[in-house]
Amino acid sequence: MRDFIIKRLQNSIIKLERVGVKLRKIEKDIIMQAGLLLSEALREISYPNIPGHELEHSFRVFELAIYIWWHERKGDFRKIVFSALFHDIMRGKENHAFYSAKFTREFLKNKNFDDIADDVARIINEHSYSAKLKPSSFESAILQDVDRLDALGAIGIARVFAYGGHLKRQLYNPEDPTKGESLGHFFEKILKLPKLMNTETGKKLALKRVKVILEFIRQFFRELNLLE
Ligand SMILES: [Fe+2]
Ligand SMILES: [Fe+2]
Repeated sequence: MRDFIIKRLQNSIIKLERVGVKLRKIEKDIIMQAGLLLSEALREISYPNIPGHELEHSFRVFELAIYIWWHERKGDFRKIVFSALFHDIMRGKENHAFYSAKFTREFLKNKNFDDIADDVARIINEHSYSAKLKPSSFESAILQDVDRLDALGAIGIARVFAYGGHLKRQLYNPEDPTKGESLGHFFEKILKLPKLMNTETGKKLALKRVKVILEFIRQFFRELNLLE
């Protein structure tokens, strides 16, 4: 797991640099340190393997978080990196934001990261969509945005159907495709996400990604209605 995470994060750095995010050595060191700690945490507990919410979701969230941090020129880098990588570590539990925050706070305190443990835990706790908490810091605003961005765009579409399959949902409700099952989830939650963005960069990315979803839904209904 350790080697896998380190390689995966090196890959993240390459991707970020390719899109213009310039990271200094000190920031790359923080990323690797967080990766090592994540691999240690995953020796204590196993990451829940829920379709659409796999560990890869946390890596994407982490990459988007750094992307927004770079464009906004604001926020504590360490807190952003740690909160992104650990935010769903207890995804298998109900009220997972609370339990991911609790686990991360205790884990970081045990590893002598007392200076950021409480703040990282607060950021993680506030990412919950259902709790509808207002972000109490800019780092928290970023985590909310990036977690929601990963539910939009082509990846967001893939996640809705992967998770829907996991919950044994049908592709759509034949009585009313806008309600319930997998397709209904776009109307009930996903299409509302762009309005909830906190940061300017988040808003910009969300608008682009929601267009992909709208086009997908339009075509879905065309096919349902035997139109080309
Ligand atoms: Fe979450
Ligand atoms: Fe998440």
